[in-house]
Amino acid sequence: MSLPVLIRNAPDVQIFLPDEASATRFAQICADHLGAGDTVLLSGPVGAGKSHFARAVIRAHLGQHTEVPSPSFTLVKSYEAEFEIWHADLYRLTHSYEVTELGLEDAMGKALCLIEWPDRLAQIPPHAISLSLSMAGEGRIAHLRGACPALISALKSAFSV
Ligand SMILES: Nc1ncnc2c1ncn2[C@@H]1O[C@H](COP(=O)(O)OP(=O)(O)OP(=O)(O)O)[C@@H](O)[C@H]1O
Ligand SMILES: [Mg+2]
Repeated sequence: MSLPVLIRNAPDVQIFLPDEASATRFAQICADHLGAGDTVLLSGPVGAGKSHFARAVIRAHLGQHTEVPSPSFTLVKSYEAEFEIWHADLYRLTHSYEVTELGLEDAMGKALCLIEWPDRLAQIPPHAISLSLSMAGEGRIAHLRGACPALISALKSAFSV
């Protein structure tokens, strides 16, 4: 996916997440700094942990027992927290106009949108945050770009980067 130049050049941080627990902690720290109007583009191969991240963020806002099914067939699922949270999995998107029909285009900029397979989008919001997850042995490397400085420093201090 080619990211808009604003995101490509934004401050970034890379963190090694050796296991699920560290990935959950990473997402919980992100959740503290994400809110209405933020869009997080979750990229990485199948099994990289995109849904794991989205689930942990949603649970951080709505409670640890919240059911967060994968929206791979419905493509989107929205949640009512103190603000709306939209979780999208666009892997099976066939036409980019569906993004409008699903209401996701309207939601971006108003709700917190967590979007798996964002390369399916015709247009990427220029101020979106990019979280790219890659496999690293049994663990993952998280590369976060475009997040606010407070989030970047919270992650650096939590993971001693
Ligand atoms: N840092 C990590 N270390 C080890 N396992 C992890 C890590 N992060 C996530 N996982 C695990 O990897 C598995 C796949 O995660 P997940 O379903 O979130 O992938 P995904 O990127 O959403 O895949 P898909 O493209 O199929 O939607 C899950 O069992 C999850 O708990
Ligand atoms: Mg997924």
